[in-house]
Amino acid sequence: MNHTLELLLNHSSVRDFKETTINRNIINIIIKTAQMAPTSSHYQAYTIIGVEDVMKKHLLSDIAGGQSWVKEAPLVLLFCGDLYRANKYYRNIDSKVLSNTELYTVATTDASLAAQNAFIAAKSLGLDGVFVGGIRNNVELVSKEFKLPDLVFPLFLLCLGFSKDEIKTKIKPRLPQAVIHKSNFYNSQNDDELIKLYDMKVKEYYKDRTSGKIKDKWTERCGKSLMEKTRYEVGKFFRSIELFKS
Ligand SMILES: Cc1cc2nc3c(=O)[nH]c(=O)nc-3n(C[C@H](O)[C@H](O)[C@H](O)COP(=O)(O)O)c2cc1C
Repeated sequence: MNHTLELLLNHSSVRDFKETTINRNIINIIIKTAQMAPTSSHYQAYTIIGVEDVMKKHLLSDIAGGQSWVKEAPLVLLFCGDLYRANKYYRNIDSKVLSNTELYTVATTDASLAAQNAFIAAKSLGLDGVFVGGIRNNVELVSKEFKLPDLVFPLFLLCLGFSKDEIKTKIKPRLPQAVIHKSNFYNSQNDDELIKLYDMKVKEYYKDRTSGKIKDKWTERCGKSLMEKTRYEVGKFFRSIELFKS
């Protein structure tokens, strides 16, 4: 197996970091790889903000519901969808088009691809980390704190650092391939049975990882998670942009 495959197939998020700071050259190369991700129509509709200020890290950690790794990670990158540049620099556009969910999707996809490139690059350099979408608990506050202009919206953090753990966390099992990879058309005929089996596998995984404290099945855990963070405000925030009101 080559190094890239090994890296991808052995992924697990890391939330416990050493204090070791990350060298500026490494940060630059990580950002460069993010920029080389494919981007819809060459729009490059995202902005990455490096969070160096300790107070800002603390604030983000609080907004994310007290996720300690946000304040402890030596490198925190805030990924934002960015349609501000489109409005300002793309010639001869009707700004109304930017309110379309299509453009929200474009910017979010661009930012996500850039972020995953950055994550893989960082991992290839010996770093580890985790994405944090918990900051969308308060998009308005994040936006204010980071002086995001209209048409720039916070999406998630990428928290990076050197892992404290000597032993790697067990890989979290993914859905059976047949559930997510269909041939020629969407056929969910066998999914119920496969998901039932997968539920048990995930239950075992959590039991093992938490010494029996968590015994949730995948379907239970995802349902709970979804209802704990409905975040209706995210859509409201996007639609509240001054430009979209006229
Ligand atoms: C966009 C995004 C947002 C995420 N937000 C959080 C978060 O707020 N807190 C957290 O601990 N993990 C977060 N994660 C990590 C996921 O929980 C994790 O990737 C998933 O459970 C699979 O586990 P694994 O990465 O260890 O394989 C996020 C992942 C993604 C892709």
